[in-house]
Amino acid sequence: MSDNNATIEDYFSEDRVFTPTDNFSKQALANDLSLYESAEADFEKFWESQAKELLDWYEPFGQVCEWQLPFSKWFIGGKLNVSFNCLDRHVLAGRGGKVAYYWEGEPGEKISVTYSELLDQVSQFANCLKNLGVKKGDRVAIYMPMILELPIAMLACTRIGAAHSVVFGGFSSDALAGRINDAQAKLVITADGGYRRGATVQLKSNVDLALEECSTVDHVVVVRRTNTQVNMVAGRDVWWDELITGVSTKCEPVAMDSEDLLFLLYTSGTTAKPKGIMHTTGGYLTQVAYTHKYVFDLKPESDIYWCAADIGWVTGHSYILYGPLTNGATSIIYEGTPDFPDKDRWWDIIERYKVTILYTAPTAIRTFMKWGEEYPSKHDLSSLRLLGSVGEPINPEAWIWYYTHIGQSNCPVVDTWWQTETGGIMISPLPGVTKLKPGSATFALPGIFVEVVDDNGNKVEKGGGYLTIVRPWPGMLRGIYGDPERYRETYWSRFEGRYFAGDGAKVDDDGYLWLLGRVDDVMNVSGHRISTTEVESALVDHPSVAEAAVVGANDPTTGQAIIGFVTLKSGETQSSEKGEELRAHVARVIGAIARPKTIIFTDELPKTRSGKIMRRLLADVANGRSLGDTTTLADPSVVEEIRSKASDSTAED
Ligand code: WT7
Repeated sequence: MSDNNATIEDYFSEDRVFTPTDNFSKQALANDLSLYESAEADFEKFWESQAKELLDWYEPFGQVCEWQLPFSKWFIGGKLNVSFNCLDRHVLAGRGGKVAYYWEGEPGEKISVTYSELLDQVSQFANCLKNLGVKKGDRVAIYMPMILELPIAMLACTRIGAAHSVVFGGFSSDALAGRINDAQAKLVITADGGYRRGATVQLKSNVDLALEECSTVDHVVVVRRTNTQVNMVAGRDVWWDELITGVSTKCEPVAMDSEDLLFLLYTSGTTAKPKGIMHTTGGYLTQVAYTHKYVFDLKPESDIYWCAADIGWVTGHSYILYGPLTNGATSIIYEGTPDFPDKDRWWDIIERYKVTILYTAPTAIRTFMKWGEEYPSKHDLSSLRLLGSVGEPINPEAWIWYYTHIGQSNCPVVDTWWQTETGGIMISPLPGVTKLKPGSATFALPGIFVEVVDDNGNKVEKGGGYLTIVRPWPGMLRGIYGDPERYRETYWSRFEGRYFAGDGAKVDDDGYLWLLGRVDDVMNVSGHRISTTEVESALVDHPSVAEAAVVGANDPTTGQAIIGFVTLKSGETQSSEKGEELRAHVARVIGAIARPKTIIFTDELPKTRSGKIMRRLLADVANGRSLGDTTTLADPSVVEEIRSKASDSTAED
C-alpha cells in the first residue's frame, strides 16, 4: 500500500529474482561477503588496502582520508602517476605485448594497439605537449572523435601532470568555448572531423569558431581523420602527424600528488552554466580500478571487455580508459553508431572479437528492442559472460530483454548507478554474489555508504525517498572548478551532512535499492508523488512498447495528470485503441492512480547527447509552455514533431 505522506510513493513491484549460477560464482573474483564485511568493519582500512593492492605508488601515502565536510582528501602525501599505472607497469611486468585496445573505425578500419605500443605513443605525444609549452598544472581541452589519438592525448596529459578537459565531440562551438574559457585551457587537441552514421562531422571548424571567443589557447593540435578541408592558422595550429615526427618515444612520467587535479569534466545540470567537475589522482584511480575489477569480474588474461560509451562522458573516462588500463584489460573501442552499415553492427563486433563483457546504457538497449531481436539473433553472441547497464534507470522489461536476447539467459546483468560527480560506480551488484532483481541496482558497493531519506532527512528503511551518500568516497568530486560555494550549495545543502545526488530511490522489503529518476521529474497526482520511472516501467512492461517517457501536465482536478510519450516496437501500429490498451495496462500493473490521462505516440523521444530522456522539454510540451533550454538536446526536430502530435491528441482522454 502507498502511504499518502510518503516522499515519493512506491507502486511498481517486480518479483523476478536471478541467483548467480554456481558456474559464474565459482570463477568470480568476489563470491562471498568478505569485501562487504571488511569495508563495514573498517572503511578506511578497506580503501587503504584497495589503493595499495591495485596501484603502484612512487611514495606511499600516510593518512587514508581527511574529511572536512564537504571537502575530502584521500591517500594524503602519496605520489603516483596515472599513465605509469595504466601502461609502464604492465610493460615492466612483461605484458607489453598484450593488446590494450582493438579499435574499429566506423568505415571499417581495424587497428590493435598493445600496451608497449600505447606506452610509446603516449610518451611521444607527452614530449610533444612539453614542446608546445604545456606544463604540470595546465589544462588541456580535448575535442575529438572516438579514435585512438583520444586516449593517447588524455594519457599524455596525465604523464606530464596536465589536467585534461574532454568536451564531447557532439557539442557545439559555443559549448566548447564556454568550457575552454572556464578551464582557461592552454591547448586544444582536435581532429579535422569524425565519422557518424556514414557521414563526416566537422570538428576543427567548430574549434576555429570557439577560439574566436577564447584568449587562453596558444596552440591547436589537429589529427587527420576524415581528410576534410580545414583552415590551419599559421603559428597556432599544428598537424598531429607532423608534430610527432622524429620525437622521442621515451618520456619520464611525473610523480603527482594523490590530490593533484587529474581532469575536469563539465556537466550541464539544470542551469545554463556547466559545472567543471574536478577529479584528482589517487582516490579516483583507486575507485575506478576497484569497481572495474569487481563489478565486471575482470580477468585481464581472458576477457575482451567493451564499454560502448563515448570517451567524452565520464563512463568512457572511467571505464574505457582509466579502470581497464589500470587493470591491464583488453578493450574494444568502436568509433561510430550502432546502425552503420546496418542495425547489427554491435553484434557483429561482439562475434568477431569474442567480446566477453559488454557495458552500455538503457537508451541503447531500448533502441535495440525497438529494432527487434532479429539483429542480435543473426550473430553468435556466446562469448558474452557479463552485461552491464548505466546512465538511467533500466526498466525491468528492458533488463529482461537484454538478459534474454543479448545475454542468452546466461549472463548476469549489473545495473550500475553513479554520476560524473562520483567518479566511479557506487551502487551495483557484485555478479558472483548478489541475487539480481531486474530494474534494481541492488546495493551500495563495499566501501560505499548510502541512505534513502525522507523530506526531513530521516532515514527511510522501506519505501521511497531521496538517495544520499553518507560517507566520503575516494573517487568523489573534489569540487566545481573555480566555484567552491556552488559545490556546497549544489550537493551539500539539501540534507545536512549528506551528499544529495538529485535522484529519488526506494528501498524494498529485502533492502534492495530501486532508482526512481531525478526528483525534479516526480509527478504529483491528487496529492500522490509518483515517480516517472515507475510509470515508464509499467508502460515498457507492455509487449508492444520499446520506450516511454511520462511527465505531469497541469490539471484542474488532480493537480497534475500523467501524459505518456510512447515509442512502439517496430511492426506495432499506433492507434487510439493501442493508447487505451496501454492506459489500462498501467492501471492494472501499478494502480488506477498512475493511469496516464493521455498517450502520445512518437518514433523518437527527445534525449541529451548522452542519451538521457529530457522530460523537462516533454513537460513544456504537455503544459503548452514555450520550450526551455534546448542546448543539450541531441536532435531538436524530435520535439517539434512531438509538439504537433500533442496538439492533435488532446481529445484522447
Ligand atoms: C545521473 C548521472 C554515471 C555515468 C553516466 C551518467 C542517472 C546513472 C543510473 C542507473 C538509474 C542512473 C542518475 C544519475 N543514472 N546511472 N544505473 N540507474 N539512474 O553520468 O551524466 O553524470 O548522470 O544518471 O539520475 O544522477 P551523469
